[in-house]
Amino acid sequence: MRQIIVGNWKMNGTARLAAGQAEILREAAPGLVCDLVLCPPATLIAALVARLAGSAIGVGGQDCHSAASGAHTGDIAAGMLAEAGARYVILGHSERRADHGETDAMVRAKAAAARAAGLTPIVCVGENEAEQLAGRAEAVVVGQLAASLPEDFSGTIAYEPIWAIGTGRTPTPEDVIAMHRAIRACLAERFGVAGRAFPILYGGSVKAANAREILALPEVGGALVGGASLDPAEFLAIARAARPPDR
Ligand code: PGA
Repeated sequence: MRQIIVGNWKMNGTARLAAGQAEILREAAPGLVCDLVLCPPATLIAALVARLAGSAIGVGGQDCHSAASGAHTGDIAAGMLAEAGARYVILGHSERRADHGETDAMVRAKAAAARAAGLTPIVCVGENEAEQLAGRAEAVVVGQLAASLPEDFSGTIAYEPIWAIGTGRTPTPEDVIAMHRAIRACLAERFGVAGRAFPILYGGSVKAANAREILALPEVGGALVGGASLDPAEFLAIARAARPPDR
């Protein structure tokens, strides 16, 4: 399976950045052995989709509401993202969980809504530093997975240790392998054959300098890239470090 490199622009980016990225990435994409997905702020989705038309590069949202419509000022329904041309949506990012009090149950409802709208959810899980130091990382992540995925889940998981996001710190390769294996075991146990195929991305301080090592690890299906995705040269260097699919 091809690895997926997802750019999470967070609350960054302008129409100008989107235009520049689209031009550089659409030219480079045919030569890559991985798939690319860009998740800009919602205001830029439609413009980015238009600029990427005819390319294989996907566009995604960074969150959606669990309801299809209604009195939810400021929120965006999954169907609205789909109508704007998005094919993916990041859900349960640790910044949403921290800033907006999103619980596993809310993430689960959002993932179900995303599926209903035809979007591929990218569900984020990850332990914080205290949990990691206490040796509870795996238990925390397994618990989040169990509670954040709906029964009919189909999509992508992103393992993002919170202490590695935006800090320049990353887990050891052994820790990434162990966690990705633990996640795979949970998915396979719960979703059977389908669960063996859901991509598991690593996220947290992925840069051109460490991408090759991380993307070579077993069970790493790609990367969720924050800060480094705002620089198209850096993002492309990460994409070029992807492992070619097994034949
Ligand atoms: P980072 O962010 O690459 O800047 O560490 C990753 C993320 O939060 O998705």
